[in-house]
Amino acid sequence: MSASRNAAPLFEPFAQGKLELGSRIVMAPMTRGFSPNGVPGPNVAGYYRRRAENNVGLIITEGTVINHPAAAADRDVPHFYGEEALEGWANVVREVHEAGGKIVPQIWHVGTAREREKFPESDAAPIGPSGLSLTGQPVSEPLTTEEIRSLVAGYAQAAADAKRIGFDGVEIHGAHGYLIDQFFWENTNKRTDEYGGDLVGRTRFAVEVIEAVRTAVGPEFPIIFRFSQWKPVDYNAKLAPTPEALEQFLAPLSAAGVDIFHCSTRRFWEPEFEGSELNLAGWTKKLTGKPTITVGSVGLDSEFTSLFAEGKGADNVGLDALVERLERGEFDLVAVGRALLNDPAWARKIHEDRTDELKAFAREALGSLS
Ligand SMILES: Cc1cc2nc3c(=O)[nH]c(=O)nc-3n(C[C@H](O)[C@H](O)[C@H](O)COP(=O)(O)O)c2cc1C
Repeated sequence: MSASRNAAPLFEPFAQGKLELGSRIVMAPMTRGFSPNGVPGPNVAGYYRRRAENNVGLIITEGTVINHPAAAADRDVPHFYGEEALEGWANVVREVHEAGGKIVPQIWHVGTAREREKFPESDAAPIGPSGLSLTGQPVSEPLTTEEIRSLVAGYAQAAADAKRIGFDGVEIHGAHGYLIDQFFWENTNKRTDEYGGDLVGRTRFAVEVIEAVRTAVGPEFPIIFRFSQWKPVDYNAKLAPTPEALEQFLAPLSAAGVDIFHCSTRRFWEPEFEGSELNLAGWTKKLTGKPTITVGSVGLDSEFTSLFAEGKGADNVGLDALVERLERGEFDLVAVGRALLNDPAWARKIHEDRTDELKAFAREALGSLS
């Protein structure tokens, strides 16, 4: 069966340098917490493999933490360091490649979002640019310059390992109020040195991370950078309130070596600024000239944050408005979260116009790695 006429653009190939994808559908990074002691096992490999077998062009793994004692917020989140965890990841890569798919890890440090009580055996305190939680509570001392350098090196090491064990690129998690975003956001970055100050000053940590990652992986290895305006404590927050500010914010990140921007929003159809229909991915593509990934409630009728706030499920909806935007070239790739978590064959069903077989998303889907 061929794709329905409307969905066909989602299944056109994409190429950017060395990254060649069989479809425009990207699996969004989703924490699953199925990696005891930080080691992803065969169940994790099978989970990703099933998506690769079913028309997902690129898989972005769940956030996987860099080598720093306070990098994780929760237990059973996969590590991206240590022989055992990296062997587990190498097996994930092998399985996805055998199925003809492509995969990048999302490398992550949660900053002050670390939940200390979940690690009673550890004395690693949360860290952040100014030691502030997202609600502005002091939880630790501001990072020293030396600590910042070692964190930058931690991201670079993770990226070097991603390349060494065969991943197709790397995504740096700069979104959702975690460490890199805590540098971006004025509420959590009160520094007066070169890592703080105005919006451009607050990009400096990310710029150093991207540059160090680029040096570690060489010129050809794809670097995806995920960012969001919204924060978990404030969905209306804006790092950049205007297109001009967004341009100032993105220019240093782009120059530092990002190949593809992943623009995290909760609803892909929402205009980012007044006076234009463009969403965040649309603006980012226009301002940087780089390919972008859109995301947010693709194929579903409610946003993912309602899942965490209210345990809410979601029903399936059509993709016409999304495909129209893709065809107009507003963005290049489309990340899908819950719909793909729910059903490994979601993309194939769309491709083969079997939409009557789609099942509604229910929060119970979080309970297993199907
Ligand atoms: C269970 C779950 C875990 C998530 N974990 C991550 C994560 O590790 N990193 C990240 O950047 N976003 C994470 N997200 C956000 C998703 O990547 C995505 O942006 C969001 O679910 C919106 O897409 P959707 O509406 O298609 O679900 C998570 C979302 C869900 C539902």
